[in-house]
Amino acid sequence: MKFFLDSANIEEIEKALDLGLVDGVTTNPSLLAAESSRWKELASEICSRVDGPVSIEVMETEAEQMILEARKLAELSRNVVVKIPMTLQGVKAVKVLSAENIPTNVTLVFSPLQALLAAKAGAAYVSPFVGRIDDTGQSGMDIVARIINIYENYGFDSRIIVASVRNPAHVLEAAETGADIVTIPYKILLKLADHPMTYQGIQTFEKAWKSARK
Ligand code: G3P
Repeated sequence: MKFFLDSANIEEIEKALDLGLVDGVTTNPSLLAAESSRWKELASEICSRVDGPVSIEVMETEAEQMILEARKLAELSRNVVVKIPMTLQGVKAVKVLSAENIPTNVTLVFSPLQALLAAKAGAAYVSPFVGRIDDTGQSGMDIVARIINIYENYGFDSRIIVASVRNPAHVLEAAETGADIVTIPYKILLKLADHPMTYQGIQTFEKAWKSARK
């Protein structure tokens, strides 16, 4: 299973890379805008620091314009994956871009049917937003399981990125459900190793060690 970092913050990206846990990065317009007004420079900087795929989203909404924007984004770096919102215009753009070997990540996916369309169009990645689905009272992870089932039925090779991750349980459930990738905010990545009994255990061992050496 791959871990991507859901961040456009260079410091977070560097720290996460240093942990050795990060296989790629996803950004979105909100994350980039929160860091810098010079978002293209920032996106290039992120691509240069990360070996794996880096998702950067188009802002255009019509297929022809999305395609032009996507081609420009793809020129930023060899590891750019162009994020395209899940609309009919987006699907149309993905079909053209995949024929040009420009990898796409279809984002803002909230239903198995949307994920089916994205895979048919040739998306390299598809991002169901589990946290936002949970917010509506549905189970985000049930949607992920249904997408996996559809992709297995037909041998689609679009990779599923579980996105809109809000807590460590989302990461665990994504792994149990069999998602290919989970994209994790930095503050949640830091929590994944936590268990109170691990800390208690370390303290107990330290105490025993120190008292034996007195
Ligand atoms: O990966 C998508 C993510 O950035 C959106 O997360 O928490 O805004 O739903 P959230």
